[in-house]
Amino acid sequence: MTPRSDGPEALSPSHARTSLSLLADGSHVNLLGNVHGGVVMRLVDSTAGAVAQRHSGGPAVTAAMDEMAFLEPVHVGDILRTVAQVNWAGRTSMEIGVRVESEPWNEAGREPLHVASAYLVFVAIDDDGHPREIPRLAPQTPDEVRRAREAEIRRAHRLARRAEIEATREQHVH
Ligand SMILES: CC(C)(COP(=O)(O)OP(=O)(O)OC[C@H]1O[C@@H](n2cnc3c(N)ncnc32)[C@H](O)[C@@H]1OP(=O)(O)O)[C@@H](O)C(=O)NCCC(=O)NCCS
Repeated sequence: MTPRSDGPEALSPSHARTSLSLLADGSHVNLLGNVHGGVVMRLVDSTAGAVAQRHSGGPAVTAAMDEMAFLEPVHVGDILRTVAQVNWAGRTSMEIGVRVESEPWNEAGREPLHVASAYLVFVAIDDDGHPREIPRLAPQTPDEVRRAREAEIRRAHRLARRAEIEATREQHVH
């Protein structure tokens, strides 16, 4: 962890890294018999929420979920495992990356399959529900530095897209 001169010390991504697991059963299926995408999304959101609370030291809410990619179907009997960490932290918001892997519940030694990935934006809030400041992030490993760099690109695109849409709305109102 790197101390900072203007506030609480910065935290490394490993400080808040979190993993959750779920054994997919008959209650998780969609009409095709595979595991419902919403089940995976819920697990992703819960994992990212735990990471956000751990990094920010208090309540944090989901502001956006983007680039939720489903790469492989998930079946009943699969163990789903998430791993998530803070990729980037701003003043009050943070991007959290989540990777989801699966493996059969009854077979040892199989390589886990990468089934989904997502990037979520969480905002830390105070007692009144207003955004509150969070500790800075201190990426350390080359992977953490790469994730932070790529998260900044996604953030710039998110904000630019939102600003562009708002501008076209104003043009059409007046
Ligand atoms: C998230 C929330 C607190 C943001 O409040 P707000 O008044 O719009 O906040 P601001 O405009 O001051 O933005 C605060 C931060 O969030 C970021 N942010 C807000 N909405 C965002 C979005 N859709 N995408 C990316 N970043 C976003 C801002 O860039 C800013 O980041 P920074 O402080 O790190 O620079 C508010 O929109 C909210 O309460 N939403 C509902 C959240 C919720 O209930 N989630 C669960 C749904 S089931």
